[in-house]
Amino acid sequence: MDFKQFIADVPDFPEEGITFRDISPLMADGKAYKEATRQIVEYAKDKGVEMIVGPEARGFIVGCPVANELEIGFAPCRKKGKLPRETIEVSYGLEYGNDILQLHKDAIKPGQKVLITDDLLATGGTIAATIELVEKLGGEVVGAAFFIELADLKGRDQIKGYDIFTLMTY
Ligand code: PRP
Ligand code: ADE
Repeated sequence: MDFKQFIADVPDFPEEGITFRDISPLMADGKAYKEATRQIVEYAKDKGVEMIVGPEARGFIVGCPVANELEIGFAPCRKKGKLPRETIEVSYGLEYGNDILQLHKDAIKPGQKVLITDDLLATGGTIAATIELVEKLGGEVVGAAFFIELADLKGRDQIKGYDIFTLMTY
């Protein structure tokens, strides 16, 4: 399937000079969203994934349907102040700003094989921070899956040695 037909390219959002790759048309098309999910499910099966972790907010959109299909768990990685119980945290930079991500301390069992999901890999700041949190809890990151990779921003360089699966590259 040509997934790019379902991505809206929005110039100068959220800042001048950024072309925002909006996945909401893909989500709005039931068949396209299901096929994107199916391809990540197949990847996760090959990797023996036991738990999925996705960073707020769009990492939930990618990871939750995959977790559901595989009948495994999903742990939300959230921006500071949103998770109600004991957390660990890490600060990170992204294409347009800085932030702090947190994960509940009991989100991952030591040794669990974890897939990290997100809609888009840009500078790699978000994925690197999420990997750090999962590994602090003793999880084994077996892969990272995205709908979109922005190749020019070289996010892969932030997570050398980790397996990456993407549906579209710009
Ligand atoms: C976006 C996107 C990724 C991240 C990618 O999230 O969903 O998580 O940026 O950028 P990076 O590779 O440079 O880190 P954003 O922080 O805008 O949050 P949102 O999903 O809540 O909109
Ligand atoms: N997150 C970081 N950069 C982005 C972009 N260009 N489009 C959509 N989400 C993003």
